[in-house]
This record gives sequence, structure tokens and C-alpha cells, in this order.
Amino acid sequence: MKRIGILTSGGDAPGMNSCIRSIVITALQYQINCIGILNGYNGLIQRATIELSQKNVKHIMPLGGTILKTSRSKDFFSYEGRQKAFENYRALGLDGLIVIGGDGSFRGAKAFQDEFGVAVIGIPGTIDNDLLGTDYTIGYDTAINTAMHALDQLRDTAQSHNRVFFVELMGHDAGLIAIRSGLAAGAEDIHIPEIKTDIPALLEKIRQKPIDESMIIVVSEGDEYDTFELAKQAKDNFPELEIKTLILGHLQRGGSPTAFDRLLASRFGLAAVKTLVEGKSGLATGIINGQVQMIALQKVEKHLNYVKPHLLELMDALCSR
Ligand code: F6P
Repeated sequence: MKRIGILTSGGDAPGMNSCIRSIVITALQYQINCIGILNGYNGLIQRATIELSQKNVKHIMPLGGTILKTSRSKDFFSYEGRQKAFENYRALGLDGLIVIGGDGSFRGAKAFQDEFGVAVIGIPGTIDNDLLGTDYTIGYDTAINTAMHALDQLRDTAQSHNRVFFVELMGHDAGLIAIRSGLAAGAEDIHIPEIKTDIPALLEKIRQKPIDESMIIVVSEGDEYDTFELAKQAKDNFPELEIKTLILGHLQRGGSPTAFDRLLASRFGLAAVKTLVEGKSGLATGIINGQVQMIALQKVEKHLNYVKPHLLELMDALCSR
């Protein structure tokens, strides 16, 4: 093995750069050079690449986003797209490919391996933490902290005006960012797709809001109710209250990664290279109970409808008190 490709795919996640750095430095120790493929799988189809030397990954750990850029490539999901990608893979003289992304990116990687015999390793990178086979994905911890700080700042102004805020947080179909950051910021109510939203209970909580208090109601983007719809119901029922809505959106994807994400990403990068060097393929890194493990790519599906019981217990015990 002399030359491997690295790409980031799907939504960017803070910590992806630490992962790229770790792959490049580890690979060099095995005399393997790394090529950065730009713009996710599109870069493989269009042969858009950069050389990744130790020097150009040297100080990238504090950077959010991904220096390789990313995309949600539609073309790679067709056989013709993957065939074109394989022609470029061969022309670039690659002996393996490391894909940092979510479950969709892994499905693409698996198809690429099965159809063309390419050695592929996946590394879970998404702020949503919605993948099976790992307790944490790269970017999740940073996103929780970013959302928590945003909610803290919102509290300052909400409390000054005794206002009610509905705040929509990301997470796609999973409520994991919402529940952790909401709990960490002392939100009065949290609505996530994993738990049925009880509108009468929500309205009752708002009714009980002390006159000299604020209220922050976190709504995960995947919740069964739209955030504006919930806010409208509240406004209709409590016209005397000042009720506002905030969609935090892509702010949650940016920013310098936390130490946790930098180290997790570095561990995943190292494990991915070692696995390729051992001649293995079709695997993804994961971390279970603090130990990095490799699992079959096809087992990495969306991990939905599961929130750790201790978080639900906290939510029951602490929200709105
Ligand atoms: O998967 C990460 C994520 O940020 C989700 O939380 C969100 O639903 C989605 O990506 C947004 O995607 P895009 O950046 O393509 O709008």
C-alpha cells in the first residue's frame, strides 16, 4: 500500500480536520502518501484532488468544517458515477479509500468496494450522532456545546423580557443534540422525535410560567410538530405572552471542535489507517465504552428511536422546575 485517498462526505462536522491530520500523519509512518479528494465523492468523479503532506495538515485541528470540502453527491449513487470514480481512483494510483461521513456515505463506500474491489474504511462524522456501531460520531460533542452556548445566550435576553422562546435545533431524525444541549442549558421543555409531543402538557407548562420568568422550549428538527406550528399554538392560547421562535440552523455545524471531538477524530483516523494496512476493508471505526472498534460497514445504519434512559430521567426530573 503506497497511496490512499481521503474524502469527507455529507454534512461537515467539527473534528473532521483532526481526523484528516491523524490519517495523514499515521499513513506517513507506514510510508503511505495521502491524496485529499475534494468535495466528497464528487471530487473522485471529477478528479479534484490535493496532495496531503504532513506540512499542510499541521495546524488544522482548531479549524471547523473540512479542509477537503464536502458534498452530498447524487452522482455517486448511480453505477455510472461510481464507474467514473473508479477510473479516476485507478488513474490516481490509489490503493485504498477512507471516507469520513454518515450512513449514506458509508452505503456509497460499500457499493464502491463490492463493485470494484476497492479497499474502503468508513469513519463516522456527523453532528447528529445517529449511527449504529458507535457511541459517538465526530462533531456531535462540539454541536452540543455550540447549541448549549447559544441557549445560554438566548436565556440572557429571554430572562430580561420574561419571554417564551421556541428554539429549533438540528439532529435530522434524531433528538440527541436537542436533548443533551437542552438539558445542559436548563431548558424548560424539550421536544424530540423519539418521544411523542404532548400538546396539552406543553400548553399547561406555559400556563404555569411565573410572570417574572423566561421559558426556553427546545424542539428538535425531526419532531413530529414543526417549531413554528408549536409556537403558533402557544401564541393562540396565550396572546398576553411574548412568544418568539429561533431556528439555530447551520450555526450548530460550525466552530472549532472540542477537545473530545479532536481526540475522537484522531483515534478514528489512526485506527482506520492501521486497519487498511492490515489488508482489511469494508469496515467502519466506532467507539464503544471508550474502546475504538471496527464494525462492518453494512451494519452502520441510522440509529433512531433510542435515547439513553438516564437522559429521559433527567428530562422528567428537571424540565420546567
Ligand atoms: O446531518 C447533519 C445535518 O446538519 C442535520 O442535522 C441536518 O438535518 C442536515 O445535516 C442539514 O443538511 P444540509 O446542510 O444539507 O441542509
